[in-house]
Amino acid sequence: MADIQSIFSRRLDPAWSRGEPSALLPDWTARHADLQAVSVEVAAASEAFVAALAAAPDAATVQAVRNAALSRENGAFTEALAMVPTLPVEEKRVLGRALNLGKQLIEAAEKARREALERLREDVGELDVTLPGRRPWRRRPHVLAQVRDELLDLFHGLGFSVYTSPEVELDRYNFGKLNFAPDHPARDAHDTYFVNPDVVLRTHTSPGWVRAMEERQPPLRLVFPGRVYRAEAVDASHMDQFHQIDGLAVGRNVSMADLKATLNTFARAIYRRDVPTRIIPIYFPFVEPGVQMDVQCATCAGSGRVQDEAGERRCPVCKGTKWVEVLGAGMVHPNVFRTVGYDPEQVTGFAFGMGLERIAMGRHGIHEIRQFLENDVRFLEQF
Ligand code: DAH
Repeated sequence: MADIQSIFSRRLDPAWSRGEPSALLPDWTARHADLQAVSVEVAAASEAFVAALAAAPDAATVQAVRNAALSRENGAFTEALAMVPTLPVEEKRVLGRALNLGKQLIEAAEKARREALERLREDVGELDVTLPGRRPWRRRPHVLAQVRDELLDLFHGLGFSVYTSPEVELDRYNFGKLNFAPDHPARDAHDTYFVNPDVVLRTHTSPGWVRAMEERQPPLRLVFPGRVYRAEAVDASHMDQFHQIDGLAVGRNVSMADLKATLNTFARAIYRRDVPTRIIPIYFPFVEPGVQMDVQCATCAGSGRVQDEAGERRCPVCKGTKWVEVLGAGMVHPNVFRTVGYDPEQVTGFAFGMGLERIAMGRHGIHEIRQFLENDVRFLEQF
Protein backbone atom coordinates (compact mmCIF):
# COMPACT_ATOMS: atom_id res chain seq x y z
CA MET A 1 0.00 0.00 0.00
CA ALA A 2 3.04 2.28 0.18
CA ASP A 3 2.57 3.39 -3.42
CA ILE A 4 -1.05 4.37 -2.66
CA GLN A 5 0.23 6.90 -0.16
CA SER A 6 2.70 8.35 -2.63
CA ILE A 7 -0.01 8.60 -5.32
CA PHE A 8 -2.03 10.78 -2.98
CA SER A 9 0.75 12.87 -1.53
CA ARG A 10 1.98 13.82 -5.01
CA ARG A 11 -1.45 15.33 -5.78
CA LEU A 12 -1.82 17.33 -2.57
CA ASP A 13 -0.63 20.89 -3.12
CA PRO A 14 1.01 22.23 0.06
CA ALA A 15 -0.20 25.74 -0.94
CA TRP A 16 -3.86 24.83 -0.27
CA SER A 17 -5.30 26.16 2.97
CA ARG A 18 -6.99 23.69 5.22
CA GLY A 19 -10.55 24.24 6.39
CA GLU A 20 -12.78 22.31 8.75
CA PRO A 21 -14.40 19.32 6.92
CA SER A 22 -17.34 19.07 9.34
CA ALA A 23 -18.22 22.70 8.56
CA LEU A 24 -18.74 21.63 4.95
CA LEU A 25 -20.33 18.21 5.48
CA PRO A 26 -22.65 17.87 8.47
CA ASP A 27 -22.27 14.06 8.45
CA TRP A 28 -18.49 14.23 8.06
CA THR A 29 -17.54 12.61 11.35
CA ALA A 30 -19.60 9.45 10.79
CA ARG A 31 -18.62 9.06 7.14
CA HIS A 32 -14.96 9.65 7.89
CA ALA A 33 -15.04 7.05 10.68
CA ASP A 34 -16.62 4.50 8.27
CA LEU A 35 -13.88 5.12 5.77
CA GLN A 36 -11.16 4.97 8.38
CA ALA A 37 -12.40 1.56 9.45
CA VAL A 38 -11.73 0.37 5.91
CA SER A 39 -8.49 2.19 5.08
CA VAL A 40 -6.51 4.59 7.21
CA GLU A 41 -4.46 5.81 4.23
CA VAL A 42 -7.44 6.58 2.00
CA ALA A 43 -9.23 8.24 4.94
CA ALA A 44 -6.23 10.52 5.57
CA ALA A 45 -5.93 11.42 1.87
CA SER A 46 -9.69 12.10 1.59
CA GLU A 47 -9.57 14.31 4.67
CA ALA A 48 -6.75 16.36 3.13
CA PHE A 49 -8.78 16.97 -0.08
CA VAL A 50 -11.98 17.77 1.81
CA ALA A 51 -10.11 20.18 4.11
CA ALA A 52 -8.68 21.93 1.04
CA LEU A 53 -12.19 22.21 -0.43
CA ALA A 54 -13.55 23.61 2.83
CA ALA A 55 -11.01 26.42 2.63
CA ALA A 56 -11.15 26.99 -1.14
CA PRO A 57 -11.67 30.76 -1.58
CA ASP A 58 -13.19 30.58 -5.07
CA ALA A 59 -14.63 28.31 -7.76
CA ALA A 60 -11.27 27.98 -9.54
CA THR A 61 -9.61 26.56 -6.43
CA VAL A 62 -12.53 24.16 -5.91
CA GLN A 63 -11.99 22.94 -9.46
CA ALA A 64 -8.24 22.54 -8.97
CA VAL A 65 -8.66 20.49 -5.78
CA ARG A 66 -11.36 18.38 -7.34
CA ASN A 67 -9.19 17.68 -10.42
CA ALA A 68 -6.21 16.70 -8.30
CA ALA A 69 -8.40 14.07 -6.66
CA LEU A 70 -10.82 12.92 -9.32
CA SER A 71 -9.88 14.05 -12.85
CA ARG A 72 -10.11 11.25 -15.39
CA GLU A 73 -6.60 11.75 -16.77
CA ASN A 74 -4.49 12.25 -13.68
CA GLY A 75 -6.65 12.38 -10.55
CA ALA A 76 -5.18 10.59 -7.52
CA PHE A 77 -8.29 8.44 -7.08
CA THR A 78 -8.40 7.57 -10.78
CA GLU A 79 -4.80 6.41 -10.68
CA ALA A 80 -5.29 4.46 -7.46
CA LEU A 81 -8.42 2.76 -8.83
CA ALA A 82 -6.47 1.71 -11.91
CA MET A 83 -4.16 -0.25 -9.60
CA VAL A 84 -6.96 -2.19 -7.94
CA PRO A 85 -7.32 -5.01 -10.52
CA THR A 86 -3.63 -5.90 -10.08
CA LEU A 87 -4.01 -6.60 -6.35
CA PRO A 88 -4.73 -9.89 -4.58
CA VAL A 89 -8.42 -10.59 -4.12
CA GLU A 90 -8.71 -9.54 -0.49
CA GLU A 91 -6.79 -6.27 -0.92
CA LYS A 92 -8.77 -5.57 -4.10
CA ARG A 93 -12.03 -5.69 -2.19
CA VAL A 94 -10.81 -3.45 0.66
CA LEU A 95 -9.07 -0.82 -1.43
CA GLY A 96 -11.89 -0.66 -3.99
CA ARG A 97 -14.42 0.00 -1.26
CA ALA A 98 -12.19 2.61 0.45
CA LEU A 99 -11.53 4.50 -2.76
CA ASN A 100 -15.23 4.63 -3.59
CA LEU A 101 -16.13 5.95 -0.12
CA GLY A 102 -13.36 8.58 -0.43
CA LYS A 103 -14.55 9.64 -3.90
CA GLN A 104 -18.09 10.09 -2.61
CA LEU A 105 -16.85 12.24 0.27
CA ILE A 106 -14.86 14.47 -2.06
CA GLU A 107 -17.74 14.80 -4.53
CA ALA A 108 -20.11 15.76 -1.73
CA ALA A 109 -17.59 18.27 -0.36
CA GLU A 110 -17.07 19.81 -3.80
CA LYS A 111 -20.81 20.29 -4.27
CA ALA A 112 -21.25 21.77 -0.79
CA ARG A 113 -18.37 24.19 -1.28
CA ARG A 114 -19.66 25.39 -4.67
CA GLU A 115 -23.08 26.07 -3.18
CA ALA A 116 -21.60 27.95 -0.23
CA LEU A 117 -19.52 30.15 -2.51
CA GLU A 118 -22.57 30.88 -4.67
CA ARG A 119 -24.60 31.95 -1.62
CA LEU A 120 -21.79 34.21 -0.53
CA ARG A 121 -21.64 35.82 -3.96
CA GLU A 122 -25.40 36.52 -3.92
CA ASP A 123 -25.24 38.02 -0.44
CA VAL A 124 -22.40 40.37 -1.21
CA GLY A 125 -23.73 41.19 -4.66
CA GLU A 126 -21.26 41.42 -7.42
CA LEU A 127 -19.54 44.76 -7.75
CA ASP A 128 -20.26 46.20 -11.17
CA VAL A 129 -17.78 49.03 -11.52
CA THR A 130 -19.46 50.23 -14.72
CA LEU A 131 -22.74 51.16 -12.96
CA PRO A 132 -23.27 54.92 -12.60
CA GLY A 133 -22.74 56.13 -9.03
CA ARG A 134 -25.63 56.95 -6.75
CA ARG A 135 -25.68 60.61 -5.89
CA PRO A 136 -25.72 60.92 -2.10
CA TRP A 137 -28.58 62.92 -0.56
CA ARG A 138 -26.95 65.93 1.02
CA ARG A 139 -28.72 67.21 4.10
CA ARG A 140 -29.52 70.84 4.67
CA PRO A 141 -31.57 72.79 7.19
CA HIS A 142 -35.26 73.31 6.39
CA VAL A 143 -35.88 76.64 4.67
CA LEU A 144 -37.64 77.94 7.80
CA ALA A 145 -34.69 76.90 9.95
CA GLN A 146 -32.43 78.79 7.55
CA VAL A 147 -34.51 81.94 7.95
CA ARG A 148 -34.69 81.48 11.72
CA ASP A 149 -30.94 80.97 12.03
CA GLU A 150 -30.22 83.99 9.88
CA LEU A 151 -32.45 86.10 12.11
CA LEU A 152 -30.98 84.72 15.32
CA ASP A 153 -27.55 85.48 13.94
CA LEU A 154 -28.55 89.02 13.07
CA PHE A 155 -30.08 89.68 16.50
CA HIS A 156 -27.16 88.00 18.19
CA GLY A 157 -25.04 90.70 16.56
CA LEU A 158 -27.33 93.32 18.13
CA GLY A 159 -26.88 91.82 21.57
CA PHE A 160 -30.01 89.65 21.82
CA SER A 161 -29.81 86.14 23.31
CA VAL A 162 -32.27 83.32 22.71
CA TYR A 163 -34.98 82.45 25.22
CA THR A 164 -37.31 79.52 24.59
CA SER A 165 -40.70 79.06 26.21
CA PRO A 166 -43.34 76.31 26.05
CA GLU A 167 -45.61 75.65 23.08
CA VAL A 168 -48.28 74.38 25.47
CA GLU A 169 -48.85 77.51 27.50
CA LEU A 170 -51.04 78.73 30.33
CA ASP A 171 -53.88 80.93 29.15
CA ARG A 172 -52.66 83.54 31.69
CA TYR A 173 -49.29 83.83 29.99
CA ASN A 174 -50.63 83.75 26.45
CA PHE A 175 -53.24 86.43 27.19
CA GLY A 176 -53.89 87.72 30.73
CA LYS A 177 -50.37 88.74 31.68
CA LEU A 178 -49.98 90.33 28.26
CA ASN A 179 -52.79 92.75 29.14
CA PHE A 180 -55.56 91.11 27.15
CA ALA A 181 -58.74 91.99 29.06
CA PRO A 182 -60.81 88.82 29.72
CA ASP A 183 -63.45 89.62 27.13
CA HIS A 184 -61.46 91.82 24.81
CA PRO A 185 -62.11 91.09 21.11
CA ALA A 186 -58.34 90.93 20.51
CA ARG A 187 -58.52 87.41 21.96
CA ASP A 188 -60.85 86.36 19.15
CA ALA A 189 -58.26 87.29 16.53
CA HIS A 190 -56.07 84.54 17.90
CA ASP A 191 -58.42 81.60 17.16
CA THR A 192 -57.06 79.69 20.10
CA TYR A 193 -56.72 75.91 20.48
CA PHE A 194 -57.61 75.11 24.09
CA VAL A 195 -56.10 72.09 25.84
CA ASN A 196 -58.35 72.77 28.82
CA PRO A 197 -59.91 76.02 30.09
CA ASP A 198 -56.57 77.15 31.57
CA VAL A 199 -54.13 75.78 29.02
CA VAL A 200 -53.72 76.70 25.35
CA LEU A 201 -51.41 76.01 22.45
CA ARG A 202 -49.62 79.35 22.39
CA THR A 203 -50.97 81.63 19.69
CA HIS A 204 -47.82 83.77 19.56
CA THR A 205 -44.28 83.81 20.96
CA SER A 206 -44.91 86.93 23.06
CA PRO A 207 -45.71 84.91 26.27
CA GLY A 208 -41.97 84.22 26.36
CA TRP A 209 -41.37 87.82 27.43
CA VAL A 210 -43.49 87.39 30.53
CA ARG A 211 -41.66 84.22 31.52
CA ALA A 212 -38.28 85.84 30.92
CA MET A 213 -39.15 88.98 32.87
CA GLU A 214 -40.59 87.02 35.80
CA GLU A 215 -37.35 85.09 35.95
CA ARG A 216 -34.79 87.84 35.35
CA GLN A 217 -34.11 91.45 36.16
CA PRO A 218 -33.52 94.23 33.61
CA PRO A 219 -31.64 95.09 31.48
CA LEU A 220 -32.79 92.37 29.08
CA ARG A 221 -32.24 91.84 25.39
CA LEU A 222 -33.86 88.62 24.23
CA VAL A 223 -35.35 86.93 21.17
CA PHE A 224 -38.04 84.23 21.35
CA PRO A 225 -38.17 81.87 18.35
CA GLY A 226 -40.75 79.13 18.09
CA ARG A 227 -43.82 77.45 16.72
CA VAL A 228 -47.28 78.89 17.35
CA TYR A 229 -50.81 77.59 16.74
CA ARG A 230 -54.07 79.12 15.64
CA ALA A 231 -57.31 77.37 14.78
CA GLU A 232 -57.43 78.97 11.32
CA ALA A 233 -59.18 77.68 8.25
CA VAL A 234 -56.25 76.33 6.24
CA ASP A 235 -55.57 77.71 2.75
CA ALA A 236 -52.61 78.74 0.59
CA SER A 237 -51.65 81.54 2.97
CA HIS A 238 -52.98 80.29 6.33
CA MET A 239 -51.97 77.32 8.40
CA ASP A 240 -52.96 76.38 11.90
CA GLN A 241 -49.35 76.20 12.93
CA PHE A 242 -46.54 78.54 11.92
CA HIS A 243 -43.44 80.18 13.35
CA GLN A 244 -42.62 83.49 14.93
CA ILE A 245 -39.72 85.32 16.50
CA ASP A 246 -40.43 87.93 19.13
CA GLY A 247 -37.83 90.31 20.43
CA LEU A 248 -37.71 92.24 23.68
CA ALA A 249 -35.35 94.91 24.99
CA VAL A 250 -35.90 96.35 28.49
CA GLY A 251 -33.81 98.83 30.44
CA ARG A 252 -33.50 102.43 31.49
CA ASN A 253 -34.33 104.88 28.71
CA VAL A 254 -35.05 102.31 26.03
CA SER A 255 -36.94 104.37 23.47
CA MET A 256 -39.00 104.23 20.32
CA ALA A 257 -35.89 105.47 18.48
CA ASP A 258 -34.07 102.31 19.60
CA LEU A 259 -36.97 100.26 18.28
CA LYS A 260 -36.94 102.01 14.90
CA ALA A 261 -33.17 101.65 14.55
CA THR A 262 -33.36 97.95 15.43
CA LEU A 263 -36.20 97.30 12.98
CA ASN A 264 -34.49 99.19 10.17
CA THR A 265 -31.29 97.25 10.76
CA PHE A 266 -33.36 94.09 10.55
CA ALA A 267 -35.17 95.16 7.37
CA ARG A 268 -31.97 96.12 5.57
CA ALA A 269 -30.27 92.86 6.49
CA ILE A 270 -33.22 90.67 5.53
CA TYR A 271 -34.67 92.55 2.53
CA ARG A 272 -32.48 95.05 0.65
CA ARG A 273 -29.83 97.46 1.85
CA ASP A 274 -31.94 100.46 0.87
CA VAL A 275 -35.48 99.13 1.32
CA PRO A 276 -37.90 101.91 2.29
CA THR A 277 -39.81 101.11 5.50
CA ARG A 278 -42.65 102.77 7.36
CA ILE A 279 -44.16 102.45 10.78
CA ILE A 280 -47.87 102.93 11.27
CA PRO A 281 -49.95 102.75 14.44
CA ILE A 282 -51.90 99.60 15.22
CA TYR A 283 -53.40 98.08 18.34
CA PHE A 284 -51.85 95.22 20.34
CA PRO A 285 -52.84 94.92 24.02
CA PHE A 286 -49.27 94.39 25.25
CA VAL A 287 -47.65 97.48 23.72
CA GLU A 288 -48.37 101.21 23.82
CA PRO A 289 -47.91 102.69 21.35
CA GLY A 290 -48.28 99.68 19.09
CA VAL A 291 -47.03 99.77 15.53
CA GLN A 292 -46.80 97.73 12.38
CA MET A 293 -43.73 97.89 10.22
CA ASP A 294 -44.15 97.69 6.46
CA VAL A 295 -41.48 97.41 3.80
CA GLN A 296 -41.93 98.65 0.30
CA CYS A 297 -43.42 95.95 -1.94
CA ALA A 298 -40.59 94.29 -3.89
CA THR A 299 -42.92 92.87 -6.54
CA CYS A 300 -44.09 96.25 -7.85
CA ALA A 301 -41.16 98.30 -6.49
CA GLY A 302 -43.61 100.44 -4.56
CA SER A 303 -45.74 101.42 -7.56
CA GLY A 304 -48.76 99.31 -6.73
CA ARG A 305 -48.98 98.15 -10.37
CA VAL A 306 -47.38 95.33 -12.34
CA GLN A 307 -46.91 94.83 -16.07
CA ASP A 308 -46.87 91.37 -17.65
CA GLU A 309 -48.26 89.43 -20.66
CA ALA A 310 -51.76 90.12 -19.40
CA GLY A 311 -51.12 93.86 -19.49
CA GLU A 312 -50.94 96.38 -16.69
CA ARG A 313 -52.77 95.57 -13.48
CA ARG A 314 -52.87 95.95 -9.73
CA CYS A 315 -49.89 94.37 -7.92
CA PRO A 316 -51.09 90.97 -6.64
CA VAL A 317 -48.67 90.92 -3.71
CA CYS A 318 -49.42 94.26 -2.02
CA LYS A 319 -52.89 94.50 -3.59
CA GLY A 320 -51.97 97.93 -4.87
CA THR A 321 -51.09 99.31 -1.43
CA LYS A 322 -47.33 99.59 -2.29
CA TRP A 323 -46.38 98.15 1.10
CA VAL A 324 -46.22 94.73 2.69
CA GLU A 325 -46.62 94.25 6.41
CA VAL A 326 -43.67 92.46 8.01
CA LEU A 327 -44.13 92.67 11.75
CA GLY A 328 -45.87 94.03 14.81
CA ALA A 329 -43.98 96.02 17.43
CA GLY A 330 -44.28 98.69 20.08
CA MET A 331 -43.24 99.95 23.49
CA VAL A 332 -43.97 97.43 26.25
CA HIS A 333 -47.25 98.32 28.00
CA PRO A 334 -46.84 99.49 31.63
CA ASN A 335 -49.42 96.91 32.72
CA VAL A 336 -47.17 94.12 31.46
CA PHE A 337 -44.27 95.50 33.48
CA ARG A 338 -46.48 95.68 36.57
CA THR A 339 -47.58 92.06 36.09
CA VAL A 340 -44.00 90.82 36.16
CA GLY A 341 -43.00 93.10 39.03
CA TYR A 342 -41.02 95.69 37.09
CA ASP A 343 -41.56 99.39 37.88
CA PRO A 344 -42.76 101.15 34.72
CA GLU A 345 -41.41 104.42 36.18
CA GLN A 346 -37.93 102.93 36.21
CA VAL A 347 -37.75 100.88 33.02
CA THR A 348 -39.05 101.06 29.50
CA GLY A 349 -38.82 98.53 26.71
CA PHE A 350 -39.60 97.77 23.13
CA ALA A 351 -40.81 94.55 21.57
CA PHE A 352 -41.45 93.17 18.12
CA GLY A 353 -42.80 89.98 16.64
CA MET A 354 -42.61 88.57 13.14
CA GLY A 355 -43.71 85.49 11.22
CA LEU A 356 -41.01 83.31 9.64
CA GLU A 357 -43.22 81.83 6.92
CA ARG A 358 -44.09 85.27 5.64
CA ILE A 359 -40.42 86.25 5.41
CA ALA A 360 -39.49 83.00 3.66
CA MET A 361 -42.44 83.30 1.25
CA GLY A 362 -41.57 86.88 0.36
CA ARG A 363 -37.93 86.14 -0.11
CA HIS A 364 -38.27 82.97 -2.21
CA GLY A 365 -41.54 83.69 -4.01
CA ILE A 366 -43.30 80.76 -2.30
CA HIS A 367 -47.07 81.06 -2.78
CA GLU A 368 -48.28 78.02 -0.85
CA ILE A 369 -47.69 78.04 2.92
CA ARG A 370 -48.62 74.35 3.30
CA GLN A 371 -45.46 73.33 1.46
CA PHE A 372 -43.39 74.17 4.52
CA LEU A 373 -44.90 71.23 6.36
CA GLU A 374 -45.33 68.67 3.60
CA ASN A 375 -41.68 67.54 3.62
CA ASP A 376 -41.62 67.00 -0.11
CA VAL A 377 -37.92 66.87 -1.01
CA ARG A 378 -38.63 68.40 -4.41
CA PHE A 379 -39.67 71.53 -2.50
CA LEU A 380 -37.10 71.35 0.29
CA GLU A 381 -34.05 70.78 -1.89
CA GLN A 382 -34.64 74.10 -3.67
CA PHE A 383 -33.45 76.11 -0.67
N1 DAH B 1 -47.71 88.71 19.16
C1 DAH B 1 -48.29 89.45 18.07
C2 DAH B 1 -49.04 88.48 17.17
O1 DAH B 1 -48.75 87.36 17.11
C3 DAH B 1 -47.22 90.11 17.24
C4 DAH B 1 -46.54 91.20 18.02
C5 DAH B 1 -47.00 92.48 18.00
C6 DAH B 1 -45.43 90.90 18.76
C7 DAH B 1 -46.37 93.49 18.70
C8 DAH B 1 -44.79 91.91 19.47
C9 DAH B 1 -45.28 93.20 19.43
O2 DAH B 1 -43.71 91.66 20.19
O3 DAH B 1 -44.63 94.17 20.09
O4 DAH B 1 -49.96 88.93 16.50
